[in-house]
Amino acid sequence: MKTKKFQFIILLIVIGLIASACTPSKTPDNASTQAENVESLTLNIGDWDSPDPQNLPSTVKVGVLFGLSGDIAVYGEVQQRGVQLAVQQINASGYLGQKTQLEALFEDTGASGEGAIAAMDTVIGDGVVAVLGPTLSTQAFSADPIAQENSVPVMGVSNTANGITDMGDFVFRNSLPEASVVPGTITQVEDILGLKSVGVLWGNDDDFTASGYDVFKDALLENEIEIVADETFARGDVDFNAQLTNIIGESPDAIVVSALAQEAVQIIVQARNQGFDGPIIGGNGFNSPAIISQAGEAAEGVIVGAAWNIASDADISQDFIQAFEAEYGNAPDQFAAQAYTGMWLLATAIRHADDVAPATIRDELAAIKDFDSPLGLFNFDDNRNPVHDPVVQIIRNGSYEILSAETAAP
Ligand code: ALA
Repeated sequence: MKTKKFQFIILLIVIGLIASACTPSKTPDNASTQAENVESLTLNIGDWDSPDPQNLPSTVKVGVLFGLSGDIAVYGEVQQRGVQLAVQQINASGYLGQKTQLEALFEDTGASGEGAIAAMDTVIGDGVVAVLGPTLSTQAFSADPIAQENSVPVMGVSNTANGITDMGDFVFRNSLPEASVVPGTITQVEDILGLKSVGVLWGNDDDFTASGYDVFKDALLENEIEIVADETFARGDVDFNAQLTNIIGESPDAIVVSALAQEAVQIIVQARNQGFDGPIIGGNGFNSPAIISQAGEAAEGVIVGAAWNIASDADISQDFIQAFEAEYGNAPDQFAAQAYTGMWLLATAIRHADDVAPATIRDELAAIKDFDSPLGLFNFDDNRNPVHDPVVQIIRNGSYEILSAETAAP
């Protein structure tokens, strides 16, 4: 039932947004049109055989911790937009009842673990019922233990390193870990491109990039692809030429890179400048359009597995894209889709809770089943990790296309 409800509410909201977008702004007529739209949404919601959320308090606060400054803002800013859109839709539709508003308390963590700890302390001190974020796995390993100690549920919406939910039973994520994406990516690339050898370049001082390396290595071994060079770097490095010279000197069929966006852009550009024109295969850090806008032509042929692709023809995904574009004037990316879905998951847990004690929200979150979302039909497994299908992409003509024999051909 939750599946149908969510699809239905998104459809109604999109219709409402289109209707309001077609009306001149700031006129009394427009104000009444918008009020009627909200009223009609509410009436329809009231028809559902749903839990009645009318006993919730007037405001329910959720902490949202993203890297809105520093080198990870390319992820954090779109995550914030995804959450803002979800909150707007949840409140406009009366998803938590007519008297209740969801309030997102946004905190900028920057890119450090210390920033994430300070932000987590702040929102828990403000009495939030749950937390979304932080952006990086490394930050989650710093800050999530605070949520666990305070029995406040925290949901990562971009944490993809191994071991995130092992921190405790209040720790969730809706972001597919590298271990759920990379093996399928390597198998598909091997099938389509017939790789025999790769060079690997990875960041050894970050939980996500180190974890990605482990997962890539296992997947390469599994597919009997030889690792002919294995090189490392640290976050903040800008010159990767020495490592790339060593890798390219071994003439690999592809280069595998486990990096966040800032370093990934330089690695891609420098590899192309050294004349490497084969596939460059990345982990989840490569799923930002910043890779394309900053690396330009050099990004052509980059391959990356993802939790979501804009070409998904599922109605619910298209509705999300349409609403996001109407609100912000540009297309969402995978990070926005995961953040948007994360806020809807939290709202659904709140909607089904008899009270808003964080422990109750935790239990309702764990109880969500077959939630239809832009990411696909969504479930948590027993360890509070996401279960849904990934997709393999290749950058072609400046966009993320689905990898196939046709798109793989240069
Ligand atoms: N997927 C990246 C991480 O987990 C952003 O740190």
